[in-house]
Amino acid sequence: MQLKRLILTAVFGFACLAGFAQSKSNFVPQKDLLATIRKNITDADAQYKLMATLLKPNEFPKAYHPKESRMETSNSGWWCSGFYPGTLLQIYQQNHDQALLTEAERILAVLAKEQYNTHTHDLGFMMYCSFGNANAIAPKPEYKQVLINSAKSLATRFSPVTGTIRSWDSKPADYLVIIDNMMNLELLFWATKVTGDSSYYKIAVTHANNTIKNHYRPDYSSYHVVNYDAQTGAVKERKTAQGFANESAWARGQAWGLYGFTMTYRETKDKRYLDQAKGIAKFILNNPKLPADKVPYWDYNAPDKPTPLRDASAAAITASALLELCRYVDKTEGQTYFSAAQTIIANLSSPTYKSAPGSNGGFLLQHSLGHLPAGTEIDVPLTYADYYFVEAMARYKAFAKK
Ligand code: GLY
Repeated sequence: MQLKRLILTAVFGFACLAGFAQSKSNFVPQKDLLATIRKNITDADAQYKLMATLLKPNEFPKAYHPKESRMETSNSGWWCSGFYPGTLLQIYQQNHDQALLTEAERILAVLAKEQYNTHTHDLGFMMYCSFGNANAIAPKPEYKQVLINSAKSLATRFSPVTGTIRSWDSKPADYLVIIDNMMNLELLFWATKVTGDSSYYKIAVTHANNTIKNHYRPDYSSYHVVNYDAQTGAVKERKTAQGFANESAWARGQAWGLYGFTMTYRETKDKRYLDQAKGIAKFILNNPKLPADKVPYWDYNAPDKPTPLRDASAAAITASALLELCRYVDKTEGQTYFSAAQTIIANLSSPTYKSAPGSNGGFLLQHSLGHLPAGTEIDVPLTYADYYFVEAMARYKAFAKK
């Protein structure tokens, strides 16, 4: 009996591996786009070296305002602080330029104190995109400890009553959770793998399950914000903060969900997350409002006139997510995701979106949109657009190696 189970497991494991390898080799990157990506990485190296010269020692890049030639910066507590070191490290992984690693290490030391920050849910973005990449490149006990402490801090924001991680602090009776929070779960999955403490994993899947239940509409579009009753766990309201309207589909939120559920499927192998990711991909890719270049308007329900602004960051996140999702589905469906990601990368590489070398304070991509209702970061380069663009290019290139 034992032997039979062993043989079955081995056969199943082999079949999965074979299936995985086969599906990966099914997708053939275009030679021209690979050459464009090589050029983009060379340009990215120069751009990020330029950016480094524009920052004071404790500053993190936030956005760039080309008309005023002004770099907008933040301290390490801003939710985007991890993307600058993260992007440096991702470029370094592509070209092994030591200067980028040195700059990443410098700024990681400034960022490290955020491991104890319990006032934000964004620790996944801040610490996993930075220290996570550093630890993947060259594992160090101190990086590992920063990541474990960060996961501990993030876990303090979980409520067993709502079954979710609190996103934004607010008045005590409210409990605000935003779709973006799916991205922070990767840090928790990592923490369970390295510590053996399953509580992080349980928090992550409980949060993901409640997100499916409470954040999504039947068409797989998501609300931005769900406000739970902190005492009972009941949903009090569903609304937006950064989108066009409470009932609209804010473009970046759809991208965070797609990426978040694809990653959650990778970490759990639970088909419900794969189905969720596929549903979201369908919503995005079949959306009549998605422009031909597949760089979405900032909200899928933004009024047509005047022509809405684009959000290149949503496109970059989507491309990276699709290049993972295509590996988990059958060949035909996978090809659809792979081709869509290819189109996005090719278009983001064009002068319409990519900064001219030496411009835009060193950012790679133009035309992202941070928070239109608040009137901030409108049609500017943003750190996370660059981070996920570089990640998407690396993922695309990886198909060529198989
Ligand atoms: N996580 C905040 C945003 O996507 O703007």
